Amino acid sequence: MNLAISTDFTLDAVFESMASLPVFPKIVHEALKVLDDPKKKISDVSEIIKYDQGLVGNILKLTNSALFGLTQQVSDLDTALALLGQRRIREVLITSAALPYLSRTLSGYQMSPQDLWLHSVGCAIISEAVSEKVAPNLSSELYTAAILHDIGKIVLDIYLGPRLIEVLEHARIKEHDFSMAEWEIIGTDHAIAGSTILKNWDFPPDIYRAVRNHHDPDLYIQEKLSTMLALSNLIAVQLGLGVGADGFRYRINPEILKKLELSTENYLELIDEAVKKIDAAQDVFKLILE
Ligand SMILES: [Fe+2]
Ligand SMILES: [Fe+2]
Repeated sequence: MNLAISTDFTLDAVFESMASLPVFPKIVHEALKVLDDPKKKISDVSEIIKYDQGLVGNILKLTNSALFGLTQQVSDLDTALALLGQRRIREVLITSAALPYLSRTLSGYQMSPQDLWLHSVGCAIISEAVSEKVAPNLSSELYTAAILHDIGKIVLDIYLGPRLIEVLEHARIKEHDFSMAEWEIIGTDHAIAGSTILKNWDFPPDIYRAVRNHHDPDLYIQEKLSTMLALSNLIAVQLGLGVGADGFRYRINPEILKKLELSTENYLELIDEAVKKIDAAQDVFKLILE
């Protein structure tokens, strides 16, 4: 992925530059639409994506990972889609398409490509445990929001990389979380940047709003999907999944558990489930090393 590096570090330049990010593959949006259309068949999904070799390669790697739990290894797209089922196809498509964006070094955040991938996929996997416990009907939207929730870090890192060192130092001295320090030093945060990107990429409003809200307690408490995303992210951070410099200062806000009607006991069960899912997904985390 090549991006023109700007020497203009003003916020306007940063937001304008988002339009020059390579767009999320349109064929994935098309495939997802076909997937949701009861009049269409799985073979129609395959017809749309089969010519994108990079995407198909990633789909097969993911399909064969332990995460998706198939009992046989598959080597062709049609068999993979036939075996996965609708919900899993959606997750595999989004994750495969996100992989090229998420396997980057973010120097300003002190994150390696493995860190960003581990954190994003980790959050998406945890989100499955959250939606199973809280609202199974939101699982698809939550998974998509979770895998892409920190995509704004990519743009801020490219355009504001040197200033993120100041953010880091500020967060350390003031003992503020990284998102708050982003506001204090650069006047925006990666959640706003991420939601702007997802809007440009034609994701639905509930998804880019959840990304916008994921660090803002006043906002994420308003909508269930946002609250669920905030919780998934906080659990990923607390489990130490690829957090780089942006970790260990975020705490679970008791309002989240109240809003999601989770007792302490429910919450501990949820953590248990999340850890099991993460353990089962180790081969997915290694995907970008191959
Ligand atoms: Fe974040
Ligand atoms: Fe995050």
